[in-house]
Amino acid sequence: MIIRKSEQEVERMARAGAVVADVLALLGERARPGVTTEELDALADEYIRSQGGKPTFKGYRGYPASICTSPNDMIVHGIPGPYALAEGDVLSVDVGVTLDGFVADSAYTFPVGEISPDAERLLDGCRSALAAGIEQCRAGNHVSDISHAIQAVTEEHGFSVVRSLVGHGVGRAMHEEPQIPNYGEPGRGAVLARGMTFAIEPMITAGGADVVVHDDGWSISTEDGSLSAHFEHTVAITEDEPRILTAARTAVRT
Ligand code: MF3
Ligand code: CO
Repeated sequence: MIIRKSEQEVERMARAGAVVADVLALLGERARPGVTTEELDALADEYIRSQGGKPTFKGYRGYPASICTSPNDMIVHGIPGPYALAEGDVLSVDVGVTLDGFVADSAYTFPVGEISPDAERLLDGCRSALAAGIEQCRAGNHVSDISHAIQAVTEEHGFSVVRSLVGHGVGRAMHEEPQIPNYGEPGRGAVLARGMTFAIEPMITAGGADVVVHDDGWSISTEDGSLSAHFEHTVAITEDEPRILTAARTAVRT
């Protein structure tokens, strides 16, 4: 069953989403050569708590950190540690915040210093795929219209969609129904209705779609070593336009 949220509940998710957006803005400024991923994790944790929130990921099924940091060929769920960012890296950062009983979830792949034209194209392709998926978040559409749009745009750019990882409903819990694959035929699955709230999250690669899970039991990389990107927003279905609940605010207070 897909849990629909009242207008007041969507507003509460938007407040969690604003904190998530602030964290990503803050980390985007700090993601420079020489900075370690555990330093980024500490900054995120401190900011989230300063806003009265909790880092949703910490302790989730034993996950040890407050954010996920996944460099280069790592797709998702990288555990922050001593890895120091290098010029030319791309770093995917995933942030979840629980505030006033509701969760918001968003991810962004940051360029570290100057990145290659190929890496730039991959990030643009993934951002476009996310935008196309969000565009389908309208009452009356089907869940797989989102999936199909993401796949189409990803493949138009010449990239591959990771099939073993999916977007999801989000609300009081980080993972609610439905699962939202990033590929598939349109017109399938549940019909979207006002008050549904989804985490839309294309995870794409410059090479093949196969993945490997590391020995830490969390981090997932491309099998062929190709570069990957991950952009995610939490989105509410309204009576008209899709509403992005994790959109960046103009000013960040630290
Ligand atoms: N955004 C990710 C997801 O939807 C975050 C999970 S990381 C975890 O699965 F550590 F919390 F599992
Ligand atoms: Co998610």
